[in-house]
Amino acid sequence: MKIISSIAELHDQLRGQLRTAFVPTMGNLHDGHLSLMRLARKHGDPVVASIFVNRLQFGPNEDFDKYPRTFAADVEKLEKEGVYVLFAPTEKDIYPEPQEFRIQPPDDLGNILEGHFRPGFFTGVTTIVMKLFSCVQPRVAIFGKKDYQQLMVIRNMARQFALPTEIIAAETYRAEDGLALSSRNGYLSESERAEAPTLFRELNRVADALRSGNLDVSLLEKSAIDHLARRGWQPDYIAIRKRSDLQPPTAGDIATREPLVVLAAAKLGSTRLIDNLEV
Ligand code: PAF
Repeated sequence: MKIISSIAELHDQLRGQLRTAFVPTMGNLHDGHLSLMRLARKHGDPVVASIFVNRLQFGPNEDFDKYPRTFAADVEKLEKEGVYVLFAPTEKDIYPEPQEFRIQPPDDLGNILEGHFRPGFFTGVTTIVMKLFSCVQPRVAIFGKKDYQQLMVIRNMARQFALPTEIIAAETYRAEDGLALSSRNGYLSESERAEAPTLFRELNRVADALRSGNLDVSLLEKSAIDHLARRGWQPDYIAIRKRSDLQPPTAGDIATREPLVVLAAAKLGSTRLIDNLEV
């Protein structure tokens, strides 16, 4: 595997490659990321991964400095997955000057749910993803459904800018007890780790209720939030939304069985977890 930090060198290395499959990451790789690499291999060749902790997507009170950086271990894992190039730029490589041009996602997609609780997050994500795409020029790029809204925002960005990159969604990779794998799980204490699968169980409870015909969306959301709060969580949201645009379903949408997704974000101790489940 070639490890490249400069954009010019990356262009030289990938010149003429028409089927590149790309997996952008912020490192601290776990089995979830590795499943994205395997999916990438099915969709293209060569596979390029990137590791870059993107300051632009962290709010002032978020964990940019604390974000786990485990480069040597990450390299070993990517080697085993047959990744051809690891693009691991420094901040100077990516932001040699202040990034004044930025992508602005539309309010009704970028400022709801995660975007509401993390102002500027999706501007930071789309700006770096656009920049990484222009560095790697992939034919396909893989994003996990774990970050459901991120996937939607990037899909819409790729469509609206007519990018030549196809966005492929990967299923969420879960531990045996249902907890979605995430770099932030490493912050959980032993007792918090034991409690953490409750979030996914709660999503399943809401999804089961919807499937069995309980269509009182606000009541279902409220009862899930109350349940988590009673167990010591600090929920930001549990939201039943349409898969197509992440807007709340109308009575008509529910009657016509519009595909839905239940999305959740909640803090356990000082760790904020997100998850979702398609219904
Ligand atoms: O999902 C992530 O790890 C990040 O948001 C991404 C897509 C690599 C952009 O920094």
